[in-house]
This record gives sequence, structure tokens and C-alpha cells, in this order.
Amino acid sequence: MSFYITTPIYYVNATPHVGHAYTTIAADILARHRRQRGEETFFLTGTDEHGSNIARVAEEAGLEPKEFVDRNAATFMEMTRRINVSNDFFIRTTDERHEQLVQEFLQRIYDAGEIYEGVYAGLYCSRCESFYAESELVDGNCPQHGIPPEWVEEKNYFFRLSAYQDRLLALYEEGSDFVLPKFRANEARSFIEQGLDDISVSRATQRWGVSVPWDPDQVVYVWVDALINYWSALAFAREGEDLRDRLWPEVHHLLAKDILKFHCVIWPALLMGAGISVPKQLFVHGYLLMDDRKMSKSVGNVIDPLELIDVYGVDAVRYYLFRAASFGQDGNISVDGLHERYERELGNDLGNLLSRTTAMVARYRDGKLPVVEGSAELAGELDALGGRVVARLDAYDLTGGLDEIWEVVRALNRHVEQNAPWELAKDEAKADELDRVLFDLADGLRVLAITLAPFLPETTSRILDALGQDAGLDWDHARSGQTRAAEGIAPAEPLFPRVDSPAAV
Ligand code: MSP
Repeated sequence: MSFYITTPIYYVNATPHVGHAYTTIAADILARHRRQRGEETFFLTGTDEHGSNIARVAEEAGLEPKEFVDRNAATFMEMTRRINVSNDFFIRTTDERHEQLVQEFLQRIYDAGEIYEGVYAGLYCSRCESFYAESELVDGNCPQHGIPPEWVEEKNYFFRLSAYQDRLLALYEEGSDFVLPKFRANEARSFIEQGLDDISVSRATQRWGVSVPWDPDQVVYVWVDALINYWSALAFAREGEDLRDRLWPEVHHLLAKDILKFHCVIWPALLMGAGISVPKQLFVHGYLLMDDRKMSKSVGNVIDPLELIDVYGVDAVRYYLFRAASFGQDGNISVDGLHERYERELGNDLGNLLSRTTAMVARYRDGKLPVVEGSAELAGELDALGGRVVARLDAYDLTGGLDEIWEVVRALNRHVEQNAPWELAKDEAKADELDRVLFDLADGLRVLAITLAPFLPETTSRILDALGQDAGLDWDHARSGQTRAAEGIAPAEPLFPRVDSPAAV
């Protein structure tokens, strides 16, 4: 089984914010998890670098477009690194190899007779890079950006999207999970059912883009250019190998609802037009909000993920985003909220559990952890956890996955309180019982570390190190009773050291 997962490729006209980090971390969690299960996994992210909007912003910055996109792509790459994401490749649409494949892709549709020449006249929002019908405007403005669209009239090439209605509806048939969550599939379906207009796939008045292969006076519409990245990247991501043979169409696209129509309607139709199989699945998540408004550059309420990471550490940020909002739905985030969960859930629930466990092994057993028969009841809980997390993550329910794991974090904390190892330590006759409880805690923490590894990669290695365990992260190890005997266990440094106040950000 192979698992290929993508994020949208982000526009480089702005600097990255937590909203971009969100989708990328989500994809990373799923990719890391699939690797643990031994699946051949490929994780793609990147940047969308063409289009009139970017050309305009570059000009405003007094730079050549290429210089501008090089600089800004670097900040997205830096963010990708700092959020500790394990992407296998980073695609940039200004890569010549991508540009060539865009031409090849478009030529295939053209040769199939699915593209014709026409005149486009309509209202265009250059921020969205999208045409709008009068009826879609809000007070005459773009519904996403609140600015008036421009009237554009030019010769364009059109793709016969209207001819794909039935084939698209077939993808959304009852019982299919082509698009998840279900309510997003319904949104896409009702859009298709309303009837589709042909779409313009080229621009005559712009230069910053890929030339249309049969008419170099036109450039390919930036959205078509961008969508093709998911397919093109596989052709050159690995030197001397074409991964499309192995990974296409086993692709899982992650995106937020702002770009649902492009991904769930236009993209599959373009692929059909080019005679290429459609993606296996798309998951459309909600928005991260601040004070109930979408975090976005145009609203101006953005948080820089790097600032949060500097104060709370990367794992805390990765954790918080999927706790604050249920993945799939919209949800508010705030620095106060992060601070609160950092202290309560990461510091107290998980961090203290490790501190206490290692301190007790050091104190009562001179740092030695023998392998003994653990509690059957706890073993049952640990053994059920792996399957529960798999079920959640296979359904893209990252928040539910964390809920399952936290059930066990809490169960272990109760196990400490109920068995009071500090009392057992006072009575030599209870030495075996004490060994059992300490083993339970270590075994439980080890299983937690493995199941948490995709969410909290740094914390996982710290937990395993502190317990003298180095068995690797394979999902097979997420079971009870696999903890090995260890020596030299010392009281662990706090996993999540105190941060004075949220105002530190
Ligand atoms: N370049 C296009 C995508 C082309 S993909 C073939 C684009 N870029 S974007 O920079 O605007 O990124 C949009 C995506 O960023 C969203 O779909 C989502 O993945 C992520 N997000 C940006 N802001 C976000 C929130 N406030 N909340 C959740 N996701 C956010 O569209």
C-alpha cells in the first residue's frame, strides 16, 4: 500500500502564518503515522509562484518576479523546516521541470479536443485569481477579499468543464468517500448539480506564468498551473525515477474549504480531460479563526508560527492546533488558549507523568527498570489504543486521535494515584507490587510516546530516551509488554518547562 499526501501549494505573495502551518502539520502527522505503519509514504508541499497577483506584489516591492518569489519561497521552506515537517519534496511552480509538465498536461487536454478558443468577459478578483458572477459578489465586492473585482475582457482558451457534469457526479455517488467530510462532499455535489460553466484556462494580458504550448502569446491560468503540481512533482522529485508509476492516483489531498471548488470540481475534470486517473481522496478542513474571523493576511489577524515556537516549542504548537479546533471544523485559536493547554495538558498530564515515573525509578530502584508482568487491566487499555488511533487517523480525525491518546494519559495518571507507589516503597513486602506499578507506568509511557510520535516527534524521543527505550517507532511496538529492562534511569528534565505568561509572545 502506498500513501501519497499533499498540502495546497501556498502563494508566495505573503509570509507564512499559522493557517499555512496548520495544513502542513496535519499532512505531516498523517505521513509520519503511515510511515510508522510501514506504508510507502510520500508527502508533498510547496509554493505557488505564478499569476498576476504575485507579479503585482513583486513590482510593488521593486523586484523582478523571479527574485521576489525566490525570496518568499525561502520563507515558506524555512517555516516547513521549523515546524518539523517530514516532507519528501518541496515543489515550486517556477521549477522548469514543473513548467514543462504543465505544458504537456494542457496539450493532452487540447489534443483531446476539450479546449477551445473564446472571448472572456467577466469580473475578476486578482487576489483569488478567480472570476465571479455578479450574483456571487457581496455588495459588489469579492466575497473572499471584500475588494471590487476588475472587468476583464480578452481572448482566452476555454476548457469544456460543462461537459463533465455527469462524470463528476459519478465520483460523488452514494457511499463514495471521494471527498470528506461528507458535508463538504455535499457542498461540492450541489455546486456540480447547479450546472457548470466552461472555464478559461489561459490569460492573454499576463506574462508571469507558463506559456500555452500552442500559443505562446498566452500564459496558463495560475490555478491550472498550480493544481498540476500534485501530478508533476512525482515525475522529478526523485532523480532518475518517475514516482507517478507507483503513487498516482493513490493521492490524498488536504486543503481548507476556501479552495474546495478548484480541488473537488475543476481538478478532477482537468485530469479526466487529460486522460489521467482522478485522485483517490480529498479532505477539506475548516478555518483557524481568531476572535471568530478567519486568520488571513487580508484580515490582518495573522500569527507567525515561529514566534509561538520560540516560546512554547514546536511540539506544543503542533499539539495545540489540533486540540483547539476539531480538525474538519472551524475553530478559534489564541495565545491564551495555547498557554492554558500547554500548562494543563502537556505540562501536567504528560510532562509530570514522565517526571514522576523517572524520579520514582531513580529513587526507589536506583534507576533500574526490570521487566515484570504488568497489570492486565492497563495492558488491555494499551493494546486497544493502537487500533483506536488508526481508526481516527484513517478518517482524518486528528483531534479524535489525540482524544484517544489522552484517555490513556489520564488512565495512567489515575494508575499512579490509585497504586500510590510512594506508599508501596515504604514496605519491603510490597517490592513486587512496586516493580509492577513502575513497569506499568514505563510501559504505558512508551506506548503513548509511539502513538504520539506523529504529533509530537521531539517529545517522543525524549520520553523514550528518559526511559532507556530505543526500540524504534514501528506501530507494532504500540502494544503493552514490549518495554525492555533498563538501567541508569534518572529523573527526567521537564518535557514542557514553565512559560511565565502568555504575554511572552
Ligand atoms: N495557491 C493556492 C493553492 C493552490 S493548490 C493547487 C492558495 N494558496 S494560499 O496560500 O492562499 O493557501 C490556502 C490554504 O492555506 C488553505 O486552503 C489552507 O490549507 C491554508 N490556510 C490558510 N489560512 C488558513 C486558516 N486561517 N485556517 C485554515 N487553513 C488555512 O490558495
